[in-house]
Amino acid sequence: MNELPGDALAHRLAADIRAAGGAIPFARFMERALYEPQLGYYERGRNAVGRGGDFYTSVSVGPLFGELLAFHLAERLPTLPELAGTGRPFQVVEAGAHDGRLARDILAFLRQWQPALAERVEYRIIEPSATRRDWQRETLAEFGSQVRWLAALEEMPPVTGIILSNELLDAFPVHRLGWDAARQQWFEWGVAGGPEHFDWQRLPALTVPVLQLPAELLAVLPDGFSTEVGPAAANWWNTAASRLHSGWLLTADYGLEAPEFFLPQRAHGTLRGYADHRRTDDVLANPGAQDLTAQVNFTDLQASGTAAGLTTEFFGSQRRFLTDLFVATQKPGAPFPAWTSPRVRQFQTLTHPEHLGRAFSVLVQSRRTP
Ligand SMILES: C[S@@+](CC[C@H](N)C(=O)[O-])C[C@H]1O[C@@H](n2cnc3c(N)ncnc32)[C@H](O)[C@@H]1O
Repeated sequence: MNELPGDALAHRLAADIRAAGGAIPFARFMERALYEPQLGYYERGRNAVGRGGDFYTSVSVGPLFGELLAFHLAERLPTLPELAGTGRPFQVVEAGAHDGRLARDILAFLRQWQPALAERVEYRIIEPSATRRDWQRETLAEFGSQVRWLAALEEMPPVTGIILSNELLDAFPVHRLGWDAARQQWFEWGVAGGPEHFDWQRLPALTVPVLQLPAELLAVLPDGFSTEVGPAAANWWNTAASRLHSGWLLTADYGLEAPEFFLPQRAHGTLRGYADHRRTDDVLANPGAQDLTAQVNFTDLQASGTAAGLTTEFFGSQRRFLTDLFVATQKPGAPFPAWTSPRVRQFQTLTHPEHLGRAFSVLVQSRRTP
């Protein structure tokens, strides 16, 4: 994004900070920097994702990611006991659809390669923002009433099918914690100052539940070690699980397993900003003009799904997930288009460890009715 955000958002944040008596939790700063109506990064940046934007996602690499996911859905969905041998409709629910490209790639694939199944799809987009709903309506106009929108996951009737997202949860606000080695306790980083310049400031008390870690780890954790906790992501996953009557919950995200957050190379945490395809470490600069993101804690997500009665079917790198699908497309007669050179190039970008193959993981959990 090249246009300047103006300083309206910085002024609103500074007023929020003053009203709070000096500092607000970083999670609040991040939420407003990304999602403030009209001013937040994801409100202004329809073109934030992709070549002309600030960062690539698997969706912005090209249609292949959606094609492979649609191929996967077409293989799996008819095996659900509620759907097997019936012509009943089923739901594909997407959250974090941004400009609607993934939905378009999935629906276009099904229409061409699985026309009978395509007619049964009820595509539902969970989208709290009116601005982004408009972008999505424009991209998906050709699919008419097959696509509908809901403002929140809680409004979704029980789903028989799949709830999916790509890089949704790494865009959820996180709290930033620091370790006070002398006191052997965590403190929370808040944001102070503004509007010209925002600063880190310790909050007087934690606003998230205290982080429970093994005593042996805490004994060696250096003073000032910083990390993030994101209860919003695990809560979202839990809500999604509760909406799933039968089928799958699938997410592809930039993330780690819990112990990996505490490796020495992550002493400053995993919080990052992105602007013009460059990483920035000053996440407090230019609110609304840069993307802010932190690694998803996949251990928390899995635990939250398991607590809601789901079973983990796959957890691993995007590279492994997509390579298994590639192999399945090679079976004789598999309903998948030819592997032309643009498709092969997209596949390499999506799976190469130096590109999106290693940094991204895929988690699939399921609920099967007895
Ligand atoms: C990193 S972008 C990914 C966009 C797209 N899925 C892709 O892969 O190109 C994250 C998207 O999630 C959206 N988002 C954040 N919180 C959300 C929520 N609670 N419900 C739905 N979408 C949300 C953001 O507005 C943004 O469009």
